[in-house]
Amino acid sequence: GKYRVVSTKPMPGTRWINLLIQQDCRLEICTEKKTILSVEDIIALIGDKCDGVIGQLTEDWGEELFSALRRAGGTAFSNMAVGYNNVDVNAANKHGIAVGNTPGVLTETTAELAASLSLAAARRIVEADEFMRAGLYDGWLPHLFVGNLLKGQTVGVIGAGRIGSAYARMMVEGFKMNLIYYDLYQATRLEKFVTAYAEFLKANGETPVTWKRASSMDEVLQEADIISLHPILDKTTYHLVNKERLAKMKKEAILINCSRGPVIDEAALVDHLRQNPLFRVGLDVFEDEPNMKPGLAELKNAIVVPHIASASKWTREGMATLAALNVLGKIKGYPVWFDANRVEPFLNENAQPPA
Ligand code: GLV
Ligand code: GLV
Repeated sequence: GKYRVVSTKPMPGTRWINLLIQQDCRLEICTEKKTILSVEDIIALIGDKCDGVIGQLTEDWGEELFSALRRAGGTAFSNMAVGYNNVDVNAANKHGIAVGNTPGVLTETTAELAASLSLAAARRIVEADEFMRAGLYDGWLPHLFVGNLLKGQTVGVIGAGRIGSAYARMMVEGFKMNLIYYDLYQATRLEKFVTAYAEFLKANGETPVTWKRASSMDEVLQEADIISLHPILDKTTYHLVNKERLAKMKKEAILINCSRGPVIDEAALVDHLRQNPLFRVGLDVFEDEPNMKPGLAELKNAIVVPHIASASKWTREGMATLAALNVLGKIKGYPVWFDANRVEPFLNENAQPPA
């Protein structure tokens, strides 16, 4: 292989490997046992010559790594994730390194986990499972694990991009929920879908669902029965859900987070869950991963899973393939991967090497 490409982790499937090795690349896959590689580990992997790297969201891709990659002659980096809060795109730009991410292929899988957590929280699935396994079930009772009926309730979506919109559709169509969403941009396709679905229900003599684009986030917090967070993480969304905002939500609301942990002030959330036993939360991400804030693990009204929202076989293989194509496209000067779902082929496509 003419080009040296490094993947900081083994990734699912073989297509991404074949793509690279069939196109003049010598691929090195790091098989280090420890889960999270340090900056020093990755600098050692990059070595003296490296054309491109496929990295993971657990890694801190900033000045140190991009300057090391630049010194090794590299021009391409792809995160195997749609989120890129772990990547300093300005530092990459400065060193002339193109940065890719993996949108599109994980939209439905991630939305399906948000929907799973919504149902699990509404119907108290995890608590009920623990109850069965503990041998506590001694017969059907009218009040045993009574939860919430979603039909006719309102789902609130904060951040109605690809994933937030897919989740909204699932909840509206699947459970006949009304929708309220907040986003800086209008979710036109989502609005059209809900409008058409409402007309369909009406024509069938059923109560039509309603939708509304909220003019403030607080409107969503106050009105929704289930709220799912789908923004990107940046300075403007850090601790977006804090003590004051939690206090605005209904006492029996459900909060879902499959975006990034720091979007919620997790310590404030633990307090809120303690004080409001009927408030429930489903979390895929945590403020200080892999740790949870003290107290969270003991709370019955919290469901916690280890950042698995994009974890379907199809999606993970797709993410690996896209990440490989991002790196390959840049190295070989091919037109970058193009797909109708893929609206941001490279985050900084016009990055130029320094003179
Ligand atoms: C996963 O968290 C991703 O951003 O793809
Ligand atoms: C419950 O099991 C019922 O039959 O209503």
